[in-house]
Amino acid sequence: MNVQTPLNHSADAKTAEEGLAAQNFDTPVDSTRATEIAMQNTLLTPRFYTTDFDELDSLNVEPVRAEWDLLIAQMKADPNKGHFKKNADWDHIDWDGMDPALKAEFIDFLISSCTAEFSGCVLYKEMKRRGKNPDVTGLFQLMARDEARHAGFINDALREAGIAVNLGFLTQAKKYTYFRPKFIYYATYLSEKIGYARYITIYRHLEANPDKRFHPIFKWFREWCNDEFSHGEAFALLMRTDPEITQSRMNRLWIKFFLTAVFSTMWVRDHQRPAFHEALGVDPAWYGQEVFRKTSDISRQVFPMVLDIDHPRWIPGLERLDRANRQIAAAKRQGGIGGKLKQWWGSARAGAAFLSLLTIPSIPNEVPETSRLEPAY
Ligand SMILES: [Fe+2]
Ligand SMILES: [Fe+2]
Repeated sequence: MNVQTPLNHSADAKTAEEGLAAQNFDTPVDSTRATEIAMQNTLLTPRFYTTDFDELDSLNVEPVRAEWDLLIAQMKADPNKGHFKKNADWDHIDWDGMDPALKAEFIDFLISSCTAEFSGCVLYKEMKRRGKNPDVTGLFQLMARDEARHAGFINDALREAGIAVNLGFLTQAKKYTYFRPKFIYYATYLSEKIGYARYITIYRHLEANPDKRFHPIFKWFREWCNDEFSHGEAFALLMRTDPEITQSRMNRLWIKFFLTAVFSTMWVRDHQRPAFHEALGVDPAWYGQEVFRKTSDISRQVFPMVLDIDHPRWIPGLERLDRANRQIAAAKRQGGIGGKLKQWWGSARAGAAFLSLLTIPSIPNEVPETSRLEPAY
């Protein structure tokens, strides 16, 4: 009889299924609060997505075959197998001695990162399961494997603080947002590339300022962001299979919308974590602009425009959006009729701020002949 014993750790998994069945995904700690946070669906929290899997499956990667095969071979070689688990570099963390504000924000950061990684895993795994096109399913299988490892590793870090997100429960119970495949490409491409830019910017900053590294997980960010970089490369190639996806008039508008939405969401979310950024020694405004600049540069590989993040209306618009968002949060806490009215007013202000960002003229970009990039930061 062939009894499969579960793998000890998701870091060693060869597939997403194996990763999710690994022992570090067991949840011995009951952590209702963490799961509640992960369950939230607001504009700012990571979502779970579903799409038209048949349409995605019908993609033909022949127009980008040479670049595609190289990328897949690189991902199959799996340089990060076994990387995403604690080793001798993992320093002890005194959770009880940590400043309470920092602890709360850092845990919130870990939960939202874990949910985002896991949301990628669920979407990619589902695509692999439903598809028949070997190119498409092969890619999604590899990406799901990576995201399962990333989520598993963050779960390890949370577990040390006595917290675990119940990922099995999330898969069943969290609401799924439907996006057409082209929106999945824009949103996922951007989230992979901005993920790369975020992780590498923190990694380089802490390399120069090791005294600010208040948790060992940041030491893993370089290999981590290289995974995200490859995932982004794959979506760039998927979009390049059909020029219509990025070049038609309507789709250009959509791309601008997604760029603005992803950048401004990051700005607002990061500004909600002052103690976290203070501990890292990072000014969230500087960090935001730095990440936008890197992401914009990279996205020139496939998008026909970049946002003008040096425009005089850009930062003021983001600040207005941030203020409106704080007003909404305060109104929610207040509750009652007064709170509801203030919430509506805050939402109207947020909408106006977003519109002002969206109407900043973008900078046209000539997309190069081939798109492949290597991580350069
Ligand atoms: Fe990831
Ligand atoms: Fe990823």
